[in-house]
Amino acid sequence: MHLDFFSRLPKTTRGNRVDKRLKLTVAQVETLKQYGKEYFDGETGYGGYFYDGRWKPVAEEMIEHYKLTESSRVLEVGCAKGYLMYEFYRLGITNVHGCDISEYAISNVPKEIAGNFRVMGADKLDYPDSAFDLVISIDCINNLDSVGVDRAILEMMRVSRRDVFMRVGSYRTVEEYENIKGWGVTSLTFDSEAQWLTRFKRLNYSGDYYLRFMELLK
Ligand SMILES: C[S@@+](CC[C@H](N)C(=O)[O-])C[C@H]1O[C@@H](n2cnc3c(N)ncnc32)[C@H](O)[C@@H]1O
Repeated sequence: MHLDFFSRLPKTTRGNRVDKRLKLTVAQVETLKQYGKEYFDGETGYGGYFYDGRWKPVAEEMIEHYKLTESSRVLEVGCAKGYLMYEFYRLGITNVHGCDISEYAISNVPKEIAGNFRVMGADKLDYPDSAFDLVISIDCINNLDSVGVDRAILEMMRVSRRDVFMRVGSYRTVEEYENIKGWGVTSLTFDSEAQWLTRFKRLNYSGDYYLRFMELLK
């Protein structure tokens, strides 16, 4: 099911930053693809990704929708510095886990939750079957190639005993395609809306999703 938990997430301005990204050199993009300090906190990447509480309303809406309780186990795949899971923790869902390909990001997860956060690729999750009540992935799997995206989706289904939610970048128009290409310089998979829906059907994906069509605010 298509679900939107993001209406209360602050809208970030991207127009000017896409113009900048289009001017990146191939070498700078290669550096970003290492998902190190430059990707999160450098000029050519996020420009500084620090805790500011912005994910709290998203966590509140997910907790309510998925009827999570104190005993629920939640995993975020591609969790970066763990800020969404940190909001779950602060709201009383303390059994939170995360994984990300980035050693740098995992080493910057808030210390209260860091024990359950691991460096790991989304396409091969080192967790048992049905280990979590909810598995979330936000803006991560576009960074895998198409085979990797399939694997990641199947892995998320495997490790969840109940719910899966993923947000992925997509497009319906040529303009949205240009925007997502310009913004997602590390992305390897660019599926249109129809292609995502076909992929979900082919994989028997039974979870929820949000297709993110990129509008550019100056
Ligand atoms: C756009 S960021 C999103 C981070 C976080 N979910 C958020 O919304 O703030 C993409 C994240 O995916 C991670 N990533 C990229 N490739 C990955 C892979 N193959 N497996 C797991 N994580 C990956 C990056 O390190 C980065 O933290």
